[in-house]
Amino acid sequence: MQREKILVTSALPYANGPIHLGHLSGAYLPADIFVRYHRSKGSDILYVCGSDEHGVPITISADKEGVSPKEIIDRYHEANKKAFEKFDMSFDVYSRTSRPIHHETAQTFFKSYLEQKLLIEKKSFQFYDDKAQMFLPDRYVEGTCPKCGFEEARSDECENCGSLYDPSELIKPRSKISGEEPLLKETSHWYFPLGKFQDRLEKYVNESNEKYKWKDNVIQYCRGWFRDGLKDRAVTRDLDWGVKVPINGADGKVLYVWFEAVLGYISATKEFFKAKGNEDGWKDFWQDTSTRYIAFIGKDNTVFHTIIFPAMLMAWNDGNKEKYLLPENVPANEFLNFEGKKFSKSRGWGIDVSDFLELFPADSLRYTLASNLPENKDTDFHWKEFQAKNNSELADILGNFVNRTFVFARKHFGNKVPALGELQKIDSEMIDMIKEYPVKIGSLIENYKIKDAVLEMMNLARAANKYFNDTEPWVTIKSNKDKCGTTINVCVQIISTLAEVFGPVIPDASGKMFRMLNTNSAGWVNCGTIRLFEGHELGTPEILFSKVDDEIISEQINKLGVVEQVSYNEPMISYEEFSKIDLRTAVVLEAEKIKKSKKLLKLKVKTAGGERQIIAGIAEHYSPDELLNKSIVIVANLKPAKLMGLESQGMILAVENKDGELKILQTDDKIVPGAKVR
Ligand code: MF3
Ligand code: ZN
Repeated sequence: MQREKILVTSALPYANGPIHLGHLSGAYLPADIFVRYHRSKGSDILYVCGSDEHGVPITISADKEGVSPKEIIDRYHEANKKAFEKFDMSFDVYSRTSRPIHHETAQTFFKSYLEQKLLIEKKSFQFYDDKAQMFLPDRYVEGTCPKCGFEEARSDECENCGSLYDPSELIKPRSKISGEEPLLKETSHWYFPLGKFQDRLEKYVNESNEKYKWKDNVIQYCRGWFRDGLKDRAVTRDLDWGVKVPINGADGKVLYVWFEAVLGYISATKEFFKAKGNEDGWKDFWQDTSTRYIAFIGKDNTVFHTIIFPAMLMAWNDGNKEKYLLPENVPANEFLNFEGKKFSKSRGWGIDVSDFLELFPADSLRYTLASNLPENKDTDFHWKEFQAKNNSELADILGNFVNRTFVFARKHFGNKVPALGELQKIDSEMIDMIKEYPVKIGSLIENYKIKDAVLEMMNLARAANKYFNDTEPWVTIKSNKDKCGTTINVCVQIISTLAEVFGPVIPDASGKMFRMLNTNSAGWVNCGTIRLFEGHELGTPEILFSKVDDEIISEQINKLGVVEQVSYNEPMISYEEFSKIDLRTAVVLEAEKIKKSKKLLKLKVKTAGGERQIIAGIAEHYSPDELLNKSIVIVANLKPAKLMGLESQGMILAVENKDGELKILQTDDKIVPGAKVR
């Protein structure tokens, strides 16, 4: 039989921050399990990933830390690569989109589109920061909302009233870079006519779904896009960080990050084969029609992998002899939350992969995440559940079964496999199970039901423990040694099967099990057979799983929500500058809701100089009554501003707690209103 050839990719994570458990559950662990399973099955499989190093996410992180984009990507590329290694990810290659081979690849695609006269050049007005001499991407501009007057509205969306508008409607726009008012300056960009591909894309998605059964969430999502109609999309940006637009006179323009990052899968494959001295090897995986291509992603990446990337490949294929394969399936996962809430670095909510793996082994984390993958809906990571999975399943079920078998073989059979004697019904049933389980588990993995596959793995270990209990070898060793030998022989075969089927999820423990059996993997297809015979010498015992104790878990829970020390690369201010801010205590005299605003409350406060009105965005966190007579702190010399047509004469101070709720700063009520805060 010919080996199946499969290409697997996982979304290229942005190299602008550390990866957390949510990332692992989305696009990485499921892919790694799929890949390891196929390797065990003997498929010719290539697993490709790397860092996504361009685009605004990177430049924003760089600006925030006051360093260059290069410094950011070098730091996080290395850090993430290491974290993935510690987590036992088995990428064949982990490349990065800053490599020349990627820039060349992306530019070649772009040039082919130009040659085919596919791209449309259009002029438009964009914000431009004259002082910084640059065009400003959306996230770099803020101003006053044209609908409600909120002063910190984003360029095209207001957080306060939720309305969307055109950036040209934004009142008093400010550049986040220089703080100056940006100009609207004409610029030209290239647009990819996605609409031209709509019919073919729909056909591709529908046919792939029929043949390979795409996940429901992915199909629904694609249909939504098709229903709205695909439109031209700008595929260049005015930025200097990224893949340069390969056209004379296009200085200061780069390819839109998504329009090149997806091609990073191809560049990384090229790099892998080039390093092996096989320049054209990558074509076997990208251009040979017998290859299957599966793209693992998180749900926020769906449109780019089911619509934009396929359209880009179709467009290439239209104009070139060598044709690329399209993904056969895009099994997107939903999100993993952490103790009921979104991961948030700034709120100290969650844990980085590398910090986690300083404390606990990769296998324990892999098993916990794999048995709770967000395949059909968002799921949650809980520290207590992690402890329970490790202690009551890995250690008490799997570890215990393996341990009691080896202890018994060592004590009573000279650490050798005893003979398989006459089989009772209970033995035959168990032998059937080790044949059936791998088939069932394999088929679940092949259908991207990895969470269910993992449940079945543990079910086999449960059945094994039951078999041990029911056959009572500690009794038969005295009454019927042959029968006892048969039990232990069967248990050894079970361990060999468990080592194989658990291999994709807990590779380290699986390796230990094979070492203890003093054998190697025989491949998925042979794993349910009787393969270790009478007299086979067993290896030395090793500990499979240690228990996680309560203390270390409470410690982790207590750490949650503590914001890390920030590093002060941000501009420092002098005391003189600080003293310009007049902070005063105030007492709330009146508070009422403002019609038509969900977020704003109108307060009357008493402070230095008398009474004044403040409009505060706290309506979702406090009822008016709760505020009455509270002693609070305000910025007293903030320039008055109008919000929803009402004048606000100052600002109250509040902090956000770890649940994302605002808590206003309060003082002791013995302090008189109007006192200066220093
Ligand atoms: N960097 C993107 C993210 O983290 C994913 C890019 S996937 C790619 O959301 F294929 F475009 F590289
Ligand atoms: Zn608004």
